[in-house]
Amino acid sequence: MKRFAAFALAFGLAAVIAVATLAGDSLQWRAQVLALKARGELEFITWPETFRWLLPDSPVYLSNLITGRNPHVALTNTRYVSAADAQRGEQLFRQNCSSCHGGAGEGGNGPPLNVPSRFRSDWALYRTIQQGVPGTSMPPHDMPDPAIWQIITYLATLAPAPEEIVADAGIDIAGAGFDRIRSRDGEMQNWLSYSGGYAGQRFSSLDDIHAGNVRNIALQWVYQSDTTYNKFQTNPLVVDGVMFVTEPQGRVVALDAANGKLLWEFERPIPDREGLVLCCGVANRGVAVLDGRVFVTTIDAHLLALDMRTGRLLWDTTVADYRSGYSITAAPLAINGKVVTGVAGGEMAIRGFVAAFDPANGEPLWRFDTVPEPGAPGSDTWGTAQWEIGGAATWMTGSYDPEHDLIYWGTSHTLHDPDAEIGAHDELFGSSIVALRGTTGELAWHFQATPDDIHGFDAAQIPVLVDMELNGATRQLLFNGNRNGYLYVLDRVTGEFIAGQEFARQSWSDGLDAAGRPQVVPAARPSRNGTLAWPNSVGATNWWPPTFSPATGLLCLPVVDGPSMYYVQDVSYARGKPYVAVVGRQSFNEAASRSVRCLHPADGSLAWEKPLTADAGRSSAITMSGLLSTGGGLLFTADMNDFLALDAGTGAELWRLNTGGRVLASPVSYRANGKQFIAVAAGKALLVFGLPDQP
Ligand code: HEC
Repeated sequence: MKRFAAFALAFGLAAVIAVATLAGDSLQWRAQVLALKARGELEFITWPETFRWLLPDSPVYLSNLITGRNPHVALTNTRYVSAADAQRGEQLFRQNCSSCHGGAGEGGNGPPLNVPSRFRSDWALYRTIQQGVPGTSMPPHDMPDPAIWQIITYLATLAPAPEEIVADAGIDIAGAGFDRIRSRDGEMQNWLSYSGGYAGQRFSSLDDIHAGNVRNIALQWVYQSDTTYNKFQTNPLVVDGVMFVTEPQGRVVALDAANGKLLWEFERPIPDREGLVLCCGVANRGVAVLDGRVFVTTIDAHLLALDMRTGRLLWDTTVADYRSGYSITAAPLAINGKVVTGVAGGEMAIRGFVAAFDPANGEPLWRFDTVPEPGAPGSDTWGTAQWEIGGAATWMTGSYDPEHDLIYWGTSHTLHDPDAEIGAHDELFGSSIVALRGTTGELAWHFQATPDDIHGFDAAQIPVLVDMELNGATRQLLFNGNRNGYLYVLDRVTGEFIAGQEFARQSWSDGLDAAGRPQVVPAARPSRNGTLAWPNSVGATNWWPPTFSPATGLLCLPVVDGPSMYYVQDVSYARGKPYVAVVGRQSFNEAASRSVRCLHPADGSLAWEKPLTADAGRSSAITMSGLLSTGGGLLFTADMNDFLALDAGTGAELWRLNTGGRVLASPVSYRANGKQFIAVAAGKALLVFGLPDQP
């Protein structure tokens, strides 16, 4: 009987779909769903379910499966969600479930259902109720659609939804508005933005922990992530005693910054893990905060806003289509009335951009495309018509100057005609720093560090903003320790190039001209047979953030010295597939070394260097941690698994601890309950250090 009904439905639907397709009607999605099912891509639903749920009164939207195959995300209860449904669900629950799960889901012979569980999606509930749990006393239930979905609606009144596991933090968070974030000096107990302040200095003036007592610091608490991904790169933010931490798998947690107690957690499962196209795995580097909201980007290129007090999802906006190769791993930048984000995916030939969204509702406000369309300023620097897939991703977090309302963002390389004549096409705005007006997103100025960036260096590294005396005048400067091996000094108001100095070994250029343009060495150009050139394909530095200490006046960078063999290879474009015409392979004859270098910013000269463990395996997958400098005269960094405190003025090592896991992230400092802490992610844990409490 059921079978017959299914066939009858199939015929009916086929007719409907034929008509719809002919008419070009929106019902076309039904044909797409059936095609997916026929191709075996929807194995989690049966054919009868497929037919039933293609009808207009379906409890779930099968159309969601076209963009993502994860039923836990796509198939949510959409129809039987009214108060009346919840009431009916309660009756059904009492009749069928209470004997084991308790009168109001408090548990009995069966587990409690009135507590949050991140495994309990609508879809998981549907299948569990319908099929039972084999091998246990949880029986299958042969109930019609409305009944099961009504029970699910009732259960939702008992416990929060799995993607939104929230609890009231019960802590008074003042919310961190724009004025607090911008007045970094008055907020040193907090860490309110990715780089610790809009200027990108990653400096904390806290000095309870200093050169004289840092050897006494000890672990105070640990937050252990249960992520299965191996890149725990979070940069925690701290607002009034509450810490916000992101985890690679799409989770945000709020912790009591004094003791690590979990206040709330938010989980958004990755909707379509198999459908993601990533260069470098699943990672997330942290949140932004503004006016009582927490903003987080996702690996499938969404931007989300959560309520700072509860973790409740306020809105979810698609920034870009992950199926074209877009993803986001960087923390957003929250400024006055805007949340700004870039995108990753340059290896997939996406078109890079920086975009601003309304913090209130996620509506797009402006967008700056890093590859100009034909006719737009900069388009004449392109030789090919590939602007739609031109690259120039914006995969790190930018810095901001509130006084001039200028956002500074680094872009990654473009890479399209490796066989072209040297310097034939600069390809703006690849491997550049762009200065955008925060209010409108308009380009104020740009500086291209590596025109025609054929090695694929990029210029995404955090811009560091410093006001300082230079040749007798106080200048408002921007420093960029660039992956190509040069430290650039620019006037951050006009974009004027002031100076450029090598901070690592490089062989691809013979210095810079008066405008900062590199004199390219032809012999260092990538070739079909491979060309050895410095720096290597990881770069002289990379996403590991630098630090500037107003106390020492030094600018410090994580540095890699080593070469790659750069090979030109054939590529052809396919949407959402890697598109890389030059690859840097490791050179097995030349080792790479790692170090922290602190420079006098005025002339780029070296103040001190701390050599770190050489890259013994000579691998190209070189990793380092970011840097933090403090008012206690300290510089925190890491060496493989060891977390280190150095004397910020001399580089002398003062303290070292084996954390047991690779330190890939950047340390931050804050004060909670009157005590200074240093936090850093290592392995899959967030470790928090402080001085022992006095007995
Ligand atoms: C005869 C006892 C019994 C009845 C009746 C019963 N359950 Fe269960 N249920 C269990 C047991 C036992 C488990 C735990 C199974 C296991 O060990 O995994 C369970 C597991 C579950 C789970 C998964 C646990 C979780 O945390 O998500 C859900 C959901 C659930 N039941 C819902 C229901 C609903 C809804 C009904 C009524 C339609 C129902 N059960 C009826 C015994 C029962």
